[in-house]
Amino acid sequence: MANLSNSNERDQWSSKIGFVLAAAGSAVGLGNLWRFPYTAGQNGGGAFVLMYFVILFLVGFTLMLAELIIGRHTQLNAIGAYRKIRKNWAWVGGIGVLASFLILSFYSVIGGWVVHYVVRTVTGGLALADTNAYEGLFVGFITNPIQPILYHAIFASLTVGIVMGGVSGGIEKYSKILMPGLFVMMIIIMLRSVTLPGASEGIKFFLAPDFSKIDGSVMLAALGQVFFSLSLGMGVIITYGSYLGKSENIPQNSITIPLVDTGIALLAGLAILPAVFALGFEPDAGPSLLFITLPAVFAEMPLGMVFALIFFLLVLFAALTSSISLLEASVSFVVDQFKLSRKSAAALLGLAVFLLGIPSSLGQGIWSDLTFIRGNDFMDSIDFIASNIMLPLGGFFLCIFIGWIWGIDNALKEATNNGKISFKLAGFWSFLVKYVAPLAILVVFFQGLRS
Ligand code: TRP
Repeated sequence: MANLSNSNERDQWSSKIGFVLAAAGSAVGLGNLWRFPYTAGQNGGGAFVLMYFVILFLVGFTLMLAELIIGRHTQLNAIGAYRKIRKNWAWVGGIGVLASFLILSFYSVIGGWVVHYVVRTVTGGLALADTNAYEGLFVGFITNPIQPILYHAIFASLTVGIVMGGVSGGIEKYSKILMPGLFVMMIIIMLRSVTLPGASEGIKFFLAPDFSKIDGSVMLAALGQVFFSLSLGMGVIITYGSYLGKSENIPQNSITIPLVDTGIALLAGLAILPAVFALGFEPDAGPSLLFITLPAVFAEMPLGMVFALIFFLLVLFAALTSSISLLEASVSFVVDQFKLSRKSAAALLGLAVFLLGIPSSLGQGIWSDLTFIRGNDFMDSIDFIASNIMLPLGGFFLCIFIGWIWGIDNALKEATNNGKISFKLAGFWSFLVKYVAPLAILVVFFQGLRS
C-alpha cells in the first residue's frame, strides 16, 4: 500500500474504472436512497424532481468538473489545493472540511439505523404480518436513547476502519464489487413497487410536476440535494480528483458520475414513492420514509426477507462508500497538513464525528422537543446548515475561484491534459462556470432563505 503520509508519494487509483466507481461510490449513498425520496416527498414530488434536474444541469455537472480539475491539478486535499493556487483562498476548502464533519455526524447516525435493519432482518425481526406495524417498529427504535447510539458507533468505526486502509487498498476494492449489485437490486425493488395496486398515484406524484408547487424553498431543497447527492461543494471530489493520474479524461468523468448518481436516485424514488401511495403512507413523512415504506414492500414480495437482507446490506455498503469519502476529506487534510499518520488522523476524526452525532440521535427521542433552525430538530438543522447553506456557498466560491481568480485558461489546460484530449463543451462549460452556475446558486440561495 502506498504511504499516504508523504505527499510526494501520494496514492493513485489503480485503474480508471476504480476511480469512476469510487467517485460514484462517494456520490451514491444515503443521499440517493434515503434523502432524495423523502425530500421529494416533502417538496411536492414532481415539482422538486424538475427543479433537481434544472439545477443538476446548470450547476451539478459544471461543479463536478471544476472540482476534478482543481484536485488533479494540485494533487492535494481541498484546503491545500486552494492554498497552492492562491494562498488566501484556503478558507474555501476550510468551509468544505467543516461541512464534511457536520454531514458525517448525522450521516453516521442514519448509517447506524441501516446497520440495525441488517441485524434485525438477520434475526427475523423484520417480518411483520401487518404492514402498518413497520412505523411503530421504526419509531420505537430511533426514539430509544441508547441503542441507536451504539449502532452509530458501529457505523462510525466501520468508516474509520476502511479509511485506515488507504485509497486503493480500502475504498477502491469495495466499490468495485458492490456498486453494480446495488443497481440491479434497485431495479428489482422498483419493479415490485410500481406494480403494487394503487402505485400509479405515486408514480404521478413523483414524475408529473405541479408547477404551482415550485417556490423558493422547493428550489433551495433541490439545490441542497444536488450538492449533497453529488458530493459537491466541500472538496471531496477535489480530494478524489487529486488521486487521479494525469492521463485520465476528466470531462468525461464529470458526466458519467452525475448520470450514475441521478439514475440511482430516480430508481430509489420509484421504489419508494409509489409504494407510499399504494400502502397508504404519507409522502411527506420525512427521514423515516426509507425505513418504514420499503420493509412494507418487502413484506409484499415472495422471499421478501431475503430481498430485505440483500437490500439493506447494499444500502450499508453504499452508505459506507460515501461516509469514507466524507471522512477522507478531513483525514487527507490532517495528513497533508500536520504530517500525522493516516491511522491516527482517521481515529481522532472518527471519534470527533461520533461525539457530534450523539445529539442528532437523541433528537429523535428524548430531545425531540428541542428545535433549532426553522423549527427543525438537531439532525435536520445540521443537515440544513451543511447541505443547503455551506455546500452551495462552497460551490459558489469554487465557481468564482475558477472563473475569475485562477482563470478559465488554466482550468481548460488541466481539463484537456494540456491539449492532448478534446473537450467539445469547453466553451459552454466556461460560460456555465463563470456566469450561470454562480448566479443560479445565488438566486436560489436567497429565494430559498427568504421563503
Ligand atoms: N453524496 C453522498 C450521498 O449521496 C454523501 C456525501 C458523500 C457527500 N460525500 C459528500 C455529501 C460530500 C456532500 C459532500 O449519500
